[in-house]
Amino acid sequence: MSNDEVLRLEALKKSYNIGQPNEIEVLHGIDFTIKRHDFAALIGPSGSGKSTLLNILGLLDQPTEGEIYLLGQATRQMIDQERTRLRGESIGFVFQFHHLIQAFTVIENVLMPLMLVHGKPNKQAIERAHDLLEAVGLKDFSKRKASQLSGGQQQRVAIARALITQPALLLADEPTGNLDSQTATEVFELFREVNATQDCAVLLVTHDPRLSATCDRTIKLVDGRIESDVLSNP
Ligand SMILES: Nc1ncnc2c1ncn2[C@@H]1O[C@H](COP(=O)(O)OP(=O)(O)OP(=O)(O)O)[C@@H](O)[C@H]1O
Ligand SMILES: [Mg+2]
Repeated sequence: MSNDEVLRLEALKKSYNIGQPNEIEVLHGIDFTIKRHDFAALIGPSGSGKSTLLNILGLLDQPTEGEIYLLGQATRQMIDQERTRLRGESIGFVFQFHHLIQAFTVIENVLMPLMLVHGKPNKQAIERAHDLLEAVGLKDFSKRKASQLSGGQQQRVAIARALITQPALLLADEPTGNLDSQTATEVFELFREVNATQDCAVLLVTHDPRLSATCDRTIKLVDGRIESDVLSNP
């Protein structure tokens, strides 16, 4: 692999309900590579397979056929424990609904991915969490309960949380789908900043053409196939 390759998919297929009368293939052979500095949008009609694809390339779900190389490592034959470890170390996720723990403070939410693996966070981890909160413009909110933040603020906490492990790849499934247009633009700008400053490839699903137009690359999925994959600002 070239050393700036983060993720590579080869002939990836996915079927649901295998062996049942309602078996359905929803991804029909997907190939692409994500590189270290990519800032890419994944677009396509509802039901085209975007979330399915994102979950597979984030190692949350398994393909039916094909291979996924993450940081050069083939993941298909890995045992679950190994795959979970690789996912935890290299991938950050942001979803449409941020899934923060409402009763916990902002900083506790940001530290959660590390605490799940290592237990009590060390000083270095706490410092990084504060740095990330500063980067997402929430420096003074660290001790607030998540429930006391606005939707856009909560989504920014979710982005900080996704970055606490210093992932090589940040995946986001309609991260602004639940936000008003002004806040969506701000959150998008934050992704852009993360891409530039945290040495992290970003792939995000969006339905908003105004937002996807600001990405460097647009991958369009139609009926489970890549219809186009173009650089927007070559
Ligand atoms: N668990 C499942 N079991 C069976 N079929 C599924 C399952 N999940 C998704 N599908 C089907 O797979 C296809 C792709 O769904 P997917 O959620 O990936 O689409 P999407 O592009 O993310 O759509 P949207 O833009 O609406 O979020 C759809 O036809 C959907 O009905
Ligand atoms: Mg979806």
